[in-house]
Amino acid sequence: MTTDNTSMESVSHEDRLFPPTAAFVKDAHISGVEAYKNLYTKSIEDPEAFWSEAADELHWFKKWDSVLDRSDAPFYKWFDGSRTNLSYNCLDRHIEEGRGDKTAIHWEGEPGDSRDLSYKQLHLEVCRLSNVLKARGVSKGDRIAIYLPMVPELAIAVLACARIGAVHSVIFAGFSADSIRDRVLDSETRMVITSDGGYRRGKMLKLKNIVDEGVDGCACVKDVIVVKRGEDHPVDCTMQEGRDHWYHELVSQVGDECTAEEMEAEDLLFLLYTSGTTGKPKGIMHTTAGYQVYSYLTSKYVFDLKGDDVYWCTADVGWITGHTYIVYGILQNGVSQVMYEGAPNHPNEGRFWEIIEKYKVSIFYTAPTAIRAFMKWGDKWLNNKDLSSLRLLGTVGEAINPEAWIWYHKMIGGERCPIVDTWWQTETGGHMLTPLPGATATKPGCATVPFFGIKPAILSDDGSDVEAGILAIKEPWPGMLRGIYGDPQRYKDTYWCKWDGRYYFPGDGARVDADGYIWILGRVDDVVNVSGHRIGTAELESVFVEHKDVAESAVVGIPHEIKGQGLVAFVTVIDGRDYDDQLRKELVAMIDKSIGKFARPERVLFSSDLPKTRSGKIMRRLLRDIAEGKELGNVTTLADPSVVESLQKQYQQE
Ligand code: WTA
Repeated sequence: MTTDNTSMESVSHEDRLFPPTAAFVKDAHISGVEAYKNLYTKSIEDPEAFWSEAADELHWFKKWDSVLDRSDAPFYKWFDGSRTNLSYNCLDRHIEEGRGDKTAIHWEGEPGDSRDLSYKQLHLEVCRLSNVLKARGVSKGDRIAIYLPMVPELAIAVLACARIGAVHSVIFAGFSADSIRDRVLDSETRMVITSDGGYRRGKMLKLKNIVDEGVDGCACVKDVIVVKRGEDHPVDCTMQEGRDHWYHELVSQVGDECTAEEMEAEDLLFLLYTSGTTGKPKGIMHTTAGYQVYSYLTSKYVFDLKGDDVYWCTADVGWITGHTYIVYGILQNGVSQVMYEGAPNHPNEGRFWEIIEKYKVSIFYTAPTAIRAFMKWGDKWLNNKDLSSLRLLGTVGEAINPEAWIWYHKMIGGERCPIVDTWWQTETGGHMLTPLPGATATKPGCATVPFFGIKPAILSDDGSDVEAGILAIKEPWPGMLRGIYGDPQRYKDTYWCKWDGRYYFPGDGARVDADGYIWILGRVDDVVNVSGHRIGTAELESVFVEHKDVAESAVVGIPHEIKGQGLVAFVTVIDGRDYDDQLRKELVAMIDKSIGKFARPERVLFSSDLPKTRSGKIMRRLLRDIAEGKELGNVTTLADPSVVESLQKQYQQE
């Protein structure tokens, strides 16, 4: 993989420091910077002792024989020999310890309907669905796709799979039918759980119809279970005889009890598909015991979770943030949380603040792209909203610009709440670099320091330590991915080849400052972060070239005021076809169909050729400069410098 180190220069000179307040430090799990340093040192010097103490806080049917087995690196094994169950630790454990009547989920639908589920009720719902799955012949290891809006059944379905040892593959409900098909076929999905629809910005998304198109002809799919979301707003969906069943009918026909399956440590827990540098999304594999401990402990310490907290993460369970920090990590900690179905600006731009006020949310975790949108909508939406219940704020998904950080700190956090800027990935399973809220003085825009047990380094291509370069993780950690589904070689090549198999390569650039804090500088590969969602430029490119009039294309990311990054597509058309708006529309429609609307490019530019080096490599850096309207530097290494001129002219004209 080639890296473009010139883009790694940091422009930020942020040196404001925000230590946690004395009041926060006093009651925090990790109280003060010395406490962090001591525990961090212990976690690095004796990781086995550190992680087994953490694991001891959870329930095990059988304890482990070894904490970390390195014998088949990079296929590391954690807590080998143990038997446990994630759904047991999220539900049964709390009931046994007297927390059964506590609210697990305060669910709020977009139209204003709501539903509270205690840990006991959630347990009951999970048991019923588990029994349904078993009755339909699902067994341990079977893959189940979940394509649902943010309704309680989404969490229930995830936990029911975990309970019986089925492998869930949640597909974010903004993905298209083609994306569903790719994922279903790649993992040979046995069943799909979906709904007739889901609310988004006042409209009903017809999810079942999308599933029908996606699984059409997929022989592996034996059952489609359909949650009825449209009680008051009927959605026309046809139920295919023999394959499709209403969720509410099935759960009324089964028993209320289902014993949690005893799972082996490295049994596959879930697949979650994510973008890489090729056209094909990869099925990231997470397994049971290590992910269980890592999701539990990061949630506890990074969010400083206490019994009376009301936590709210605004992500969708369709992404890793929702898997770890809505379902598994948070429920294992036994706190109450809010789950919201819809858009932040429905019926108006004050909706999030109303929800915080209504449920007295104490911990709020959201994405920088949302914060920038709120800033744009204006402070008036905060008038008369009581946000005094908040005590801790968090961000995830991309680096937050210092301006948005300061706004969040002042306007939402009332200058009293620490902000945890958490850097991590689908692959890492949980937080990797993050402030500990009662210990770390924060800097706007900085993910700061490693979580316990994480050993980061900033390296050059040849593996020497540098101040600004490529982020590496030097030691395995329990939440790490265990592979790419069906492709062990790709797992090694993508994550472990950069420095001869010694370190994990996350694909991000970083720099370290004088205080030893780590600043994330963005991806060093062709993955673009649009509104906190990872999109591989190669995925769009391979869609465009399927059009009969398209010869070649290159997609680049450019800065975007709200989304963080936006996509600009450069498309070369086969001789004889006009570049017109009609073609542009056709290409955008292809992205909608193949990936989903959220991956639409901001602009599509046509040209007779793309700028290439004499060896035929597309010069993406030059394309980025054109798309950002920058002065172009030296173009003499190009095979045909006139290509750039014509592209630039076209860009300026439009
Ligand atoms: C980026 C999301 C800077 C990064 C949890 C990473 C961030 C990719 C941050 C993973 C952050 C995530 N600061 N960059 N706090 N959080 N990223 O897999 O480039 O959807 O590699 O996981 O998002 O995206 P993913």
